[in-house]
Amino acid sequence: MEVKNKYVSIKANINGAPEESDFEVKVENISLLVESESKEVVVKNLFVSIDPYQINRMKSQSSSQAAISFAAAITPGEAIDTYGVGRVLVSHRPDFKKDDLVAGLLTWGEYTIVKEGSLLNKLDQDQSFPLSYHVGVFGFSGLAAYGGFFEVCKPKPGEKVFVSAASGSIGHLVGQYAKLLGCYVVGSAGSQEKVKLLKETLGFEDAFNYKQETDLKSALKRCFPQGIDVYFDNVGGKMLEAAVANMNSFGRVAICGVISEYTNASTRAAPEMLDIVYKRITIQGFLAADLMKVYADFLSKTIEYLKAGKLKAIEDVSQGVESIPSAFIGLFNGDNIGKKIVKVADE
Ligand SMILES: NC(=O)c1ccc[n+]([C@@H]2O[C@H](COP(=O)([O-])OP(=O)(O)OC[C@H]3O[C@@H](n4cnc5c(N)ncnc54)[C@H](OP(=O)(O)O)[C@@H]3O)[C@@H](O)[C@H]2O)c1
Repeated sequence: MEVKNKYVSIKANINGAPEESDFEVKVENISLLVESESKEVVVKNLFVSIDPYQINRMKSQSSSQAAISFAAAITPGEAIDTYGVGRVLVSHRPDFKKDDLVAGLLTWGEYTIVKEGSLLNKLDQDQSFPLSYHVGVFGFSGLAAYGGFFEVCKPKPGEKVFVSAASGSIGHLVGQYAKLLGCYVVGSAGSQEKVKLLKETLGFEDAFNYKQETDLKSALKRCFPQGIDVYFDNVGGKMLEAAVANMNSFGRVAICGVISEYTNASTRAAPEMLDIVYKRITIQGFLAADLMKVYADFLSKTIEYLKAGKLKAIEDVSQGVESIPSAFIGLFNGDNIGKKIVKVADE
């Protein structure tokens, strides 16, 4: 038996800002007959993650592509892998049964044939949370936020914390974890609506719209008259330069991502290196995949905070495979608030 699988691919490498015309929705036939000794699992995709790092995989060349397998180059015309949640349709493996809910490396499409060795975990679905939470707050976005903040930034209660792209998937969680620890938290975001959300709904002490600031160093000086102890960087470029200029001695900077540089390399900027030396600042990049050692702690604390109403997981969900290109393009235009997810099929 066969099903038609609709999936998204790129027509050619993308070396600037992505546009709708760079993508196509293709249709292929997938066989649901899996040989009894095969370790392949056929999954019907339900929710798929939309993430900025995919743009670096779509380029003809990026230093990230050789660094780790999940960042490998995407081949034009082929299905694009992504983290997601789905339901098992066919499996002869003892660890996955038909109708099991799973999270793992799926595709920007309706179905995925998950090969042996590829990331796939059975979900013990806690009915009190939406299934989509396993893509965002319980997935790599949540782990990057929690692990990046607590393990890399090593924050202490009362410290002054700055988060960029603060209303995004990772940023809105980092700010809330910092508030829960008892830090003073300021976020930057790209619209007044986002600034209002950070201050009025998520409890940040302050927030500013970076698009309306003529001088980022002054904006940060205004928000942090006593300096920044911790900077959780999602954007890089000029914001990193401005943040370092406002850091206190022994400040810590966690580089989660540098989205402002992904579609335009000319926006790269460098912090004042004398500040790094004389203020003894630590700057550390990290990958969520390195933080699995804190996964159990992250999950139990996050579930506890969500159940107690102390943490809000904001999602921005689009519908259907056809919406994937615009959902992805929107990340670079600031369209999303919270975790960007595409719902591919009903549960
Ligand atoms: N290290 C890891 O393991 C890891 C894991 C996941 C993600 N990341 C990285 O973490 C960062 C955030 O990812 P996310 O998944 O949470 O995405 P996200 O923040 O939900 O989405 C992207 C947001 O970035 C902002 N943005 C876009 N272009 C920008 C620019 N030129 N300058 C400043 N802000 C810009 C936009 O918000 P505004 O309206 O505020 O501009 C947009 O909504 C990205 O750099 C990503 O690559 C790292």
